Formats: sequence, structure tokens, C-alpha cells
Amino acid sequence: MITIRINNESHQLDVTDDMPLLWVLRDILGLTGTKYGCGVAQCGACTIHIDGIPTRACQLPVSLIGDRHITTIEAIGNTREGARIQAVWLQNQVIQCGYCQSGQIMAATALLRDNPNPTDDDIDDAMSGNICRCGTYVRIREAIHQAANNA
Ligand code: FES
Ligand code: FES
Repeated sequence: MITIRINNESHQLDVTDDMPLLWVLRDILGLTGTKYGCGVAQCGACTIHIDGIPTRACQLPVSLIGDRHITTIEAIGNTREGARIQAVWLQNQVIQCGYCQSGQIMAATALLRDNPNPTDDDIDDAMSGNICRCGTYVRIREAIHQAANNA
């Protein structure tokens, strides 16, 4: 048995040690907001937070998480920065197909928490690992600036 803490709830899991966290989230716990994109830590669709740090869930064996706290898109709106990011995402109609957007929001939330007034370069650096095949990058940048200005 492996115990992990997700969105302030503990879960006991009867899974293999090497099962990636993304599979646990989606297939075992039904937390399907976190998406499978590339499966090789290259696209950012599966971004979650571990102790607040954006992390790729597709390549993280569940046995390595230990006591660290996982936050997913389902609960990021409970944080101050997460709520602000989600609000400006809607106001700016950032989303196109939506597939990458959970990961984008997780990355943007961590950026805003660590850097309350990011420059364009700061945003591009922080978000560069999150790929959007719909090309919503300009709206993402505008929304992050708006969230910073709304602080
Ligand atoms: S699915 Fe994890 S980074 Fe692409
Ligand atoms: S909104 Fe479609 S992949 Fe980003």
C-alpha cells in the first residue's frame, strides 16, 4: 500500500511502486482534469504541484512522492493565486480546445505566486515547458499580466 496526499485528502493505493502519478490521478482516483499529452515530460499537459512546485505527473513514480503534498487542477482554485488565474483565464477567453489548459493554469499559478509582477520574459521562461498546439500563448501572457495587475 502507498499513501499519498492529494488536495488535502489522504489516499491509500494498492498500486505498483512504478505507476506514474498521472495514472493514479486519472485512472485510480478519477481526477481527470490533469491531462495526458506526450507521456514523456515534454508537453506540460500533466502539470500538477508537489509542495507548490510545478511537476510533470506522467514521469513521476507514485512511490517517490512520500509525504509531499500534491495539488491538482481540481483544487488549485482554492489558492489565492489559482483563483485569480482561473478568473482571468475566463475573462480573456484564453482557452481554445482546452487540452493543454490545466497544465497552463498550474504553471501560471506557480509563476504568479513566486513572481507577483512578471515581465514578458519571465512569463515566457516560466511557461516555456507548456505546449499549446492551438497557439494560445498571446492570450496566456495577457491573462497573467492581468492577474498581476489585479493583485
Ligand atoms: S503528458 Fe506529461 S509532460 Fe506531456
Ligand atoms: S488550447 Fe488547445 S492545445 Fe492549448
